[in-house]
Amino acid sequence: MFRRKFLATTLATAVALSLSSLYGSAYAADATTVQSDENWARNSVIYQIYPRSFADGDGNGIGDMSGVISRLPYLDKLGVDALWLSPFYKSPQADAGYDVADYRVVDPMFGSTEEFERLLKEAHARGMKVIVDLVPNHTSDEHAWFQAALKSPPGSPERARYIFRDGRGENGELPPNNWPSVFGKAAWDRVPGEKQWYLHLFDSKQPDLNWDNPEVRAEFEKVLRFWLDRGVDGFRVDVAHGLIKEKGLADLPIEEGRENAGALVGPMWDQDGVHEIYRSWRKVLDQYPGKRIMVAEAWVSPRERLTHYIRSDEMDQAFNFEYLMTKWEAGAFKDIINSSMALTATVGAPTTWVTSNHDTVRAPSRYGLKELGAHALPGNGIGPNTPQPDEALGLRRARALAMLTLALPGSTYIYQGEELGLPEHTTMEGKYRQDPMFLRTKGEEVGRDGCRVPLPWKADAPSFGFGPGDKTWLPQPASYARYAVDRQEGAADSTLNLYRRILELRHDHKLGDGKLQWVDAGKDVLAFDNGDLRVLINMGTQAAALPEGSQVLLSSEALPEAGKLPGNTAVWLKRT
Ligand code: NOJ
Repeated sequence: MFRRKFLATTLATAVALSLSSLYGSAYAADATTVQSDENWARNSVIYQIYPRSFADGDGNGIGDMSGVISRLPYLDKLGVDALWLSPFYKSPQADAGYDVADYRVVDPMFGSTEEFERLLKEAHARGMKVIVDLVPNHTSDEHAWFQAALKSPPGSPERARYIFRDGRGENGELPPNNWPSVFGKAAWDRVPGEKQWYLHLFDSKQPDLNWDNPEVRAEFEKVLRFWLDRGVDGFRVDVAHGLIKEKGLADLPIEEGRENAGALVGPMWDQDGVHEIYRSWRKVLDQYPGKRIMVAEAWVSPRERLTHYIRSDEMDQAFNFEYLMTKWEAGAFKDIINSSMALTATVGAPTTWVTSNHDTVRAPSRYGLKELGAHALPGNGIGPNTPQPDEALGLRRARALAMLTLALPGSTYIYQGEELGLPEHTTMEGKYRQDPMFLRTKGEEVGRDGCRVPLPWKADAPSFGFGPGDKTWLPQPASYARYAVDRQEGAADSTLNLYRRILELRHDHKLGDGKLQWVDAGKDVLAFDNGDLRVLINMGTQAAALPEGSQVLLSSEALPEAGKLPGNTAVWLKRT
């Protein structure tokens, strides 16, 4: 995944390669417009639940399964098609659960396997699919395999499940190569008292597995089956571009490895060998009834390579992170929409649209900044010592963005709290921060805690109703009272009610299955038709003219002047 100088340049090149001229201006989401269960993932709205921050049933300050179950009616009413749950497996939580100690056990902190099964059953009963997170690149250092590896000698089968190497230098006192960890510092830790080191592309507590070892492959196929047998509808695959490392583990061609920590290319990323793994997983998934899906979290360059992950015999979707990184400019959005659809069309896969997740600055805060700068990139949170966003502007833009994004053909992700217009906690003090990225860089990188703050459900309750008591694992800013679900329920113009209406109309007008046809509009305005709707978003500050006789179905803000679309506002019109 992630970040920085290298990423910024490769993205610029990729965007410059916009394929729109090659493919013209109208794209079908899918040759098949008939919606069947087989095709559910081609147009679905998938809601990301970050379990530790969604809802806390037992009052220990950390969200859990019972919290999620209690809020299923809320999600149902919101109108989403599917849920994606970030990891809830047994874990010491060194990276908020992306460090798994047992892939088959629900961490007691979150509940039990029985509770998960209840959640699944109740979500299914409400017509919502459920996908779970799979973390195959690394385990926790507390996983039984890694513990066995530490107790076994170099060269043993136990060590062969991970990537152990002798250190350099006379006594092995230097790391085997210069690879940096994505989270800061070296990607290697030394086994105490030995010459050997182990590789961890992320935290020291996340040793990388050796995917050249058939035992690792066999084990993960069993893990897939374990959750498929329980009825999950698929998997979000963490660090899908990282499993295979180039043979030889050569040094990066740079002195300062850290600079390259988030690069998309290099001997550790996007090696062709990963695809054999996903093809074998596809075969496993296809042995189960109904359509079980995989979605790739893959940061690759050039971005055409993303299509390799979504070929018909591999995964079903890949997150479109470049959409999330787009600056607030009509031309930039038009380019990314065109190039995204053109790219996925080359392999017949649906396009995905993502504006926030648990690794990135929440959209209302991102678009409330004067300069997006590096904050467009994951991990680059906003902290008390960095420029603060304009909250009102950011919210206004995020509401308009929701109306753009959810009008596009394809599948869309909503990150919990997005439907509330929830901002980042941008002033959280360092003493509360828990992200390994913040800790390993000694606060030099703000990290991701700001977008992971527990949700506000009730404005006047302790912990804003996150749990029964006042505990929350990260502090909530006072402003969250304004965003609480109960405050928004009754307010006709609230962001929550806007999202509900968007999702209802999207469904009724089959926008996810539709076709996009651009319509000429002014410099700052994007306009397109999808089915019987015309969508306009004004990303500038000056009001723009609406087509004559417009019949407005929905607008992201009140329209004070007849026939005008104010700046930072979107509308859906009924086509006549
Ligand atoms: C990507 C996940 O989204 C992120 O939260 C995690 O820290 C890394 N992968 C490592 O698993």
